[in-house]
Amino acid sequence: MRQPVMAANWKMNKTSKEALEFVKEFKSGLSKGNKNNAEIVICASFTSLPCLQLELKGSGIGLGGQNIFYEKEGAYTGEVSALMIKEFCEYVILGHSERRHALGEKNEIVSKKTRTALAEDLKVIFCVGETLNERESNITWKIIEEQLRKGFNGIDKEQALNIIIAYEPVWAIGTGKTATPKQAEEAHSFIRKLIAEIFDEDYSEKTRILYGGSVKPENVKELMSQPNIDGALVGGASMNPESFLRIVNY
Ligand code: PGA
Repeated sequence: MRQPVMAANWKMNKTSKEALEFVKEFKSGLSKGNKNNAEIVICASFTSLPCLQLELKGSGIGLGGQNIFYEKEGAYTGEVSALMIKEFCEYVILGHSERRHALGEKNEIVSKKTRTALAEDLKVIFCVGETLNERESNITWKIIEEQLRKGFNGIDKEQALNIIIAYEPVWAIGTGKTATPKQAEEAHSFIRKLIAEIFDEDYSEKTRILYGGSVKPENVKELMSQPNIDGALVGGASMNPESFLRIVNY
């Protein structure tokens, strides 16, 4: 039985003051119960990590960044290293489609970042997903396979245990258009078979695969009823404590 994971991806939203306000309200709501025993992770901006670390201490809620650079340190103006975020949090989102498509991150870069993050013992929320054009051109599986094979290149099974995969069809992110539970399950089951090929059956059975793309309190339950959907990576609907609580307690 895989423990569900509900991860908030706040993207470039919330000042540290706003982040703190959210967390205070969210914690108080959560004290009334986490009925699915979900692992909860909040992925915030770098600037909010220090104060959120303090506020989340002892709460059981995990904290994550949304990116790192792949080098350990050096002359990379503006970049943030794995070692730097590790001071404050234990997770990082990598390969998000907004970085792949709006910022031109190729599979090779995502792979380097993943290796660096895992070497620093960060847990990686590794995102994959096809664009609308790719889906309509019937190359969804090819795209996901490339993202996973290239992204996982050079990673051994032991390290890979610190990876949570997130399937996020690009056409469903921030659009209000969710994949149907059937479409999502089809992709998740494809991903699980593929990682059994890359590693083995045992690893594949243990790996949590999250769905992301317009997850809301209204659609989370049906998505979570699918056998290969182990949680959600939530953008818009994670911005409000009440809405994220309803998702956690689907
Ligand atoms: P959304 O974003 O829930 O707003 O669609 C999900 C994500 O980008 O991780």
